Amino acid sequence: MIIKSAEFVTSATKPAQYPPEGLAEIAFAGRSNVGKSSLINTLVHRKHLVKTSSTPGRTQLINFFDINSNLTLVDLPGFGYAKVPAAVRKKWGPMIETYLSTRTTLKGVVIIMDSRRLPREEEQNLIHWLAHFSIAAILVLTKTDKLSKTKVLKQQTAILQTLAVEKEDVILFSAKTRRGKDAVWDAILTLTDLKAV
Ligand code: GTP
Ligand code: MG
Repeated sequence: MIIKSAEFVTSATKPAQYPPEGLAEIAFAGRSNVGKSSLINTLVHRKHLVKTSSTPGRTQLINFFDINSNLTLVDLPGFGYAKVPAAVRKKWGPMIETYLSTRTTLKGVVIIMDSRRLPREEEQNLIHWLAHFSIAAILVLTKTDKLSKTKVLKQQTAILQTLAVEKEDVILFSAKTRRGKDAVWDAILTLTDLKAV
């Protein structure tokens, strides 16, 4: 993928703050600290377009990024981090749900899961919720570089079983080795009907 430009557009918590609807949009969702921001940086070949952090819960706003003036990528705040103040946590669900259910240019959501862990209720709920609203999902297992080859396969099998999905529905990824980057791009281009970005 040739990335001519990748730029931060704006941060938002509510629809009035979203940028005008125009370009096709793909959002990235997942547990806090799972590697959402790192995955976006890997896709666009930028080390620091999206702030990453070893402290979970850093991304607390909906962040919009313009890619080649052709596609918008949206980094959603992570869910499931207990140490975030209760008042902030309470707003997250509605904030994400409002975005997902109202954004007409949204073409799909990349759901990022840790390859070392089994998906839990939050991931399952998100997958069912997206299906209910007929929003396409791309399932990605990240941080595969932290596991041996055989362990990755074992985890993949267990995760497929937990989610009741097929092998071809899940992409193995690593922001460190860039494994799976092209597969994620292919899935995004298919959903957005773009030949390239
Ligand atoms: P929040 O915004 O806080 O919800 O986190 P996030 O999901 O955006 O995660 P982020 O991309 O900030 O990554 C969290 C930590 O995991 C950072 O220390 C990253 O360097 C690390 N990380 C992310 N992806 C990978 C990966 O594929 N492999 C390895 N080894 N580390 C990763
Ligand atoms: Mg983040």
